[in-house]
Amino acid sequence: MSDKAMSEKAPLHYIYDGIEEHDNRLPNWWLFILWTTIVFGAGYWFWYHIAEVSPGQLGEYNAEAAELAKRSQGNKPASDETLLALMQDPKAVDGGKAVFQANCASCHGAQGQGLIGPNLTDGYWLHGGKPVAIHKVVAEGVVSKGMPAWERTLGAERVKAVTAYVLTLKGTNAPGGKEPQGEPEQP
Ligand code: HEC
Repeated sequence: MSDKAMSEKAPLHYIYDGIEEHDNRLPNWWLFILWTTIVFGAGYWFWYHIAEVSPGQLGEYNAEAAELAKRSQGNKPASDETLLALMQDPKAVDGGKAVFQANCASCHGAQGQGLIGPNLTDGYWLHGGKPVAIHKVVAEGVVSKGMPAWERTLGAERVKAVTAYVLTLKGTNAPGGKEPQGEPEQP
């Protein structure tokens, strides 16, 4: 727009140093954005904060946090209690048995009767027969003695499941078992 056209359209407001300020009408595109934003803002405020039709940021966060807490229930740190509870869960024990057959039977025998690795069905333990003690050996291994560490390969869930399975083998005294190694488990 030329200076002339401008000055014809809008009244001159101010002039300083040759710079003119006119009281121009705001362009329609600009007004459109302004009003749309205001209408959208009011709608948003009503939708999320007043009527609460959809959950707001906090609501979504809380829902996600609750979902996560629910999912991590099975993800509790291994303790004697959680491992004994897992031992009562047939699905976990079955899963643990499959893990055992695939990864452990080669050294501990299909029944856990012992081969290269010690017999897991007698009452004798090199590293303790408490659930957490067994879990620790399985998770961290006794690498210098030929027992691999499994937590990294199998993940925490499967290590817990296979520990639960090993707990069910305790005292089954599988036939043809390897001679006892270590100490009898203290009651
Ligand atoms: C490569 C052979 C090998 C494999 C595979 C193996 N182990 Fe072992 N495991 C051993 C050896 C050897 C020992 C004895 C370690 C020692 O002397 O301290 C052992 C020890 C153990 C012990 C401790 C026994 C005790 O008397 O305290 C447990 C429990 C155990 N293994 C469970 C498992 C499980 C569960 C798996 C499969 C996820 C597995 N092992 C796979 C060789 C193996």
